[in-house]
Amino acid sequence: MTTPDIPLIDLAGQQSRIRDRIDAAINRVLDHGQYIMGPEVGELEEALAAFSSCQHVVSCSSGTDALMLGLMALGIRPGEGVIVQSFTFAASAEVLPCLGAIPIFADIDPVTFNLSPDSLASAKAAADKAGIKVVGIITVGLFGQAADMDAITAFAEQEEWWVFDDAAQSFGASYKGRPVGALAPLTATSFFPAKPLGCYGDGGAVFTDNDEFAAIMRSARIHGMGQERYSHERIGMTARLDTIQAAILLEKLAIFNEELEKRQEVADRYEAGLADMIATPRLGAGNTSSWAQYTITLAKGTDRSHVQTALKEKGIPTAIYYPKGMHQQIPYAMYPVAGNGLPVTEDLCPRVLALPMHPYLDEETQEYIITALRAVLD
Ligand SMILES: Cc1ncc(COP(=O)(O)O)c(C=O)c1O
Repeated sequence: MTTPDIPLIDLAGQQSRIRDRIDAAINRVLDHGQYIMGPEVGELEEALAAFSSCQHVVSCSSGTDALMLGLMALGIRPGEGVIVQSFTFAASAEVLPCLGAIPIFADIDPVTFNLSPDSLASAKAAADKAGIKVVGIITVGLFGQAADMDAITAFAEQEEWWVFDDAAQSFGASYKGRPVGALAPLTATSFFPAKPLGCYGDGGAVFTDNDEFAAIMRSARIHGMGQERYSHERIGMTARLDTIQAAILLEKLAIFNEELEKRQEVADRYEAGLADMIATPRLGAGNTSSWAQYTITLAKGTDRSHVQTALKEKGIPTAIYYPKGMHQQIPYAMYPVAGNGLPVTEDLCPRVLALPMHPYLDEETQEYIITALRAVLD
């Protein structure tokens, strides 16, 4: 039998399904020629606002820029501290030093891999000790499910902090019946191609019900421009979503709900085939997931690279999100850390392993992956 070539995320499968519609959408943009801020940008923003029950969606050039724009709307100032989980993609923390602010690293809940509300008090204590005034919390919807937003929001309200949700991975999920995008005063997402809702390049968006925040971000994404061309109201950046990407996203959004259901079916099949022998992902109370990643946790002492190599030999790719906490990365090592280190983050980093996950993973291929993984772990 020849070794199959299984993708970790199958973008080609999705593209072949809607290629005609994508071609037509791109052609419409080529015909009207409004490559920057063309009509599809506004259409997409309206469609996303309806999808996420939000008043305003400000599209932009990446998930990282979405975080930057949101922080600008919040009026973050140099020297202010923001609590963020260490177990995340760099961008969740990186945007803070980019604007002169300071990440305060907190630990995660061992079940959901998301910010632990129990870590907030010790993160605040670490900031206090370093003389840093905390102003907010960036939550992350890691691997596809939202953090415990009620508990985190309650803590933030008590401290008069804001909450900004980094939903680059969790857009499409819900928490206690509310869609991601409407769980915090500001939510950022990414349309990086591999994300649950991805375009064919870089893209992102910020969601808010706050009129003032929306107006600041709309201005900041075009160099701080005011109502009149070349009158500038603030320092901004160039952070617009290309019209072609908006046109592609409109087509992808049309099948997004169906794809989310298919992702759940894939997750269910992994659960049925693996849960008796390995720690499979768990959802927090009231959560659905967009299953951006399907991450299993290997038993302590398992040789992860051996597992990866054995699977690779059978044509099965895996990935490690993330090999280290951000507090263990050299450029971030100087920033305060909650408590005496982050034991949950440090325990999980060497044990996590992401398996192929996408809506087009068929039952037969998944059975092959499950059988191969069981054989390696046996
Ligand atoms: C949690 C998280 N935040 C932010 C980002 C940044 O998104 P982008 O790559 O679109 O800038 C990503 C992208 O991988 C992410 O996973």
